[in-house]
Amino acid sequence: MKYDPNIILRCDSLVKSFGEPATLAIRDVSLTMGKGEFVSLTGRSGSGKSTLLYMLSGLDIPSSGKVYLEGKDLFQMESKETHRFRNRNIGFVFQFHYLLPELSAIENILMPARKIGEEGKKRDYARSLLKDFGLEHCKDKYPSQMSGGEQQRAAIARALIMDPGLIFADEPTGNLDTANGDKTMEIFKKRNKENGTTILYVTHDPEYAALADRRINMVDGQIESDQRQNSGKKKSLT
Ligand SMILES: Nc1ncnc2c1ncn2[C@@H]1O[C@H](COP(=O)(O)OP(=O)(O)OP(=O)(O)O)[C@@H](O)[C@H]1O
Ligand SMILES: [Mg+2]
Repeated sequence: MKYDPNIILRCDSLVKSFGEPATLAIRDVSLTMGKGEFVSLTGRSGSGKSTLLYMLSGLDIPSSGKVYLEGKDLFQMESKETHRFRNRNIGFVFQFHYLLPELSAIENILMPARKIGEEGKKRDYARSLLKDFGLEHCKDKYPSQMSGGEQQRAAIARALIMDPGLIFADEPTGNLDTANGDKTMEIFKKRNKENGTTILYVTHDPEYAALADRRINMVDGQIESDQRQNSGKKKSLT
């Protein structure tokens, strides 16, 4: 298929099975994400949201089907090349932040840059992210010395450090109180508006799902609905 520069990500007929006998976690999912889209992904526990996100981001391999990032087949590249390409183009925010406990906030944020030898180049940017996210006082703190909301914001800053065009977030507000959850969604929305970053986030919260321009719902490993919505009746963040 021809490469369309307005499409950042496309997947065709993704299937993922686990175990013996095989159970299907993802059954034939095809989807296209345009540049700059702000998309929510909902569905009951076990419906396949995390599994889908892992495959779309190249963190896990599908049983069959394809994923194209900027027109490039994510699973056709040599692993080192895939790693580098992914590192530059995709940011991933996990439900549990997975900051490295032995690194300070700023070192955690700089980790993706360090992996490709660009730590020095990104240091000023890391400082500005700390400032934007109200984390200046946490710069040299270890994760165990930070609150849950601070840790989650540091994890988001880490996902942003390479300025990826695409961010996947797996229940980024799942473990946060309302104020911190709202703040997290605000950061994503602002990034989407100002930088045109494409964002796909999983949420169980109907109000956060309603903030999206496009809502995808999964049932039993398949996309049950995929709707664009106007910006009319959205929750205003505190
Ligand atoms: N590594 C694995 N081995 C076996 N089965 C798995 C594995 N990972 C996921 N599954 C199964 O695949 C299905 C989809 O799981 P997934 O984690 O994608 O769901 P989810 O929609 O993210 O759920 P939740 O909302 O609880 O996070 C579930 O039935 C799950 O048990
Ligand atoms: Mg999940």
